Amino acid sequence: MLLSEKIPAHVGIIMDGNGRWAELRGLPRIEGHRRGSERAREIIAAAMEVGIKTLTLYAFSIENWQRPKPEVTTLMKLLEIYLRNEFNEFMEKGIVFRTIGETWRLPDNIQALITEMEARTAGNTGMTLIAALSYGGRNEIIRAVKKLVSSGIDPDKITEDSFDSFLDTAGLPSPDLIIRTSGERRISNFLLWQGAYSEFYFADTLWPDFTKDEFYEALHDYQMRERRFGAVPLRAKP
Ligand code: FPP
Repeated sequence: MLLSEKIPAHVGIIMDGNGRWAELRGLPRIEGHRRGSERAREIIAAAMEVGIKTLTLYAFSIENWQRPKPEVTTLMKLLEIYLRNEFNEFMEKGIVFRTIGETWRLPDNIQALITEMEARTAGNTGMTLIAALSYGGRNEIIRAVKKLVSSGIDPDKITEDSFDSFLDTAGLPSPDLIIRTSGERRISNFLLWQGAYSEFYFADTLWPDFTKDEFYEALHDYQMRERRFGAVPLRAKP
């Protein structure tokens, strides 16, 4: 049972384990990514169902460019097919689509598609879906620092809030919960600044097997936690 008043506003997901899922079955890695993209569709719908306002999916990290070229090329093809298929669905469901990361490194056709999707969904009022593409947290912070310096801001005026506005996630809330699948317990350069106070949920399940029920289990686990943001618990006596 989920408590409607404690639904996290922003959930980030590190969708890990597609490759291993396929290898375990003697299938090509790309089949794992294909199954992973189907899972992403199911989890997006599940997130909307419970009223999550912002969902960030780590779809392609900046480090992923170092994978063998055939895997990168096929992943890009899959990403294009996925986005083309989902575009109408996003419009119907009122999803606002955004991206974070060095998207200018993506193939031209995907960049054009993303630009169109971001523009056409900008006026929607439903859940904001953020795809982290060619994304790395440290890279995002360095880019933000460069923008900050070139803005000529007085160093005394730099605050956490003003810095925030130079990040790719400007205007978005910080993630309350970050989920990582596949048994790895690392942040892997995902939302480094924004995740300062995030709760973490690690699932052993490989991403293509991560069901809606398990997603809800992660939300339930989150709801049982007490978030203090470095302060003392409310019940504590002074
Ligand atoms: C991690 O598995 C997954 C990826 C690198 C790609 C994820 C991409 C999708 C699911 C496509 C869907 C796209 C969107 C925008 C929702 P891995 O290959 O690192 O697995 P491994 O650790 O087992 O090798």
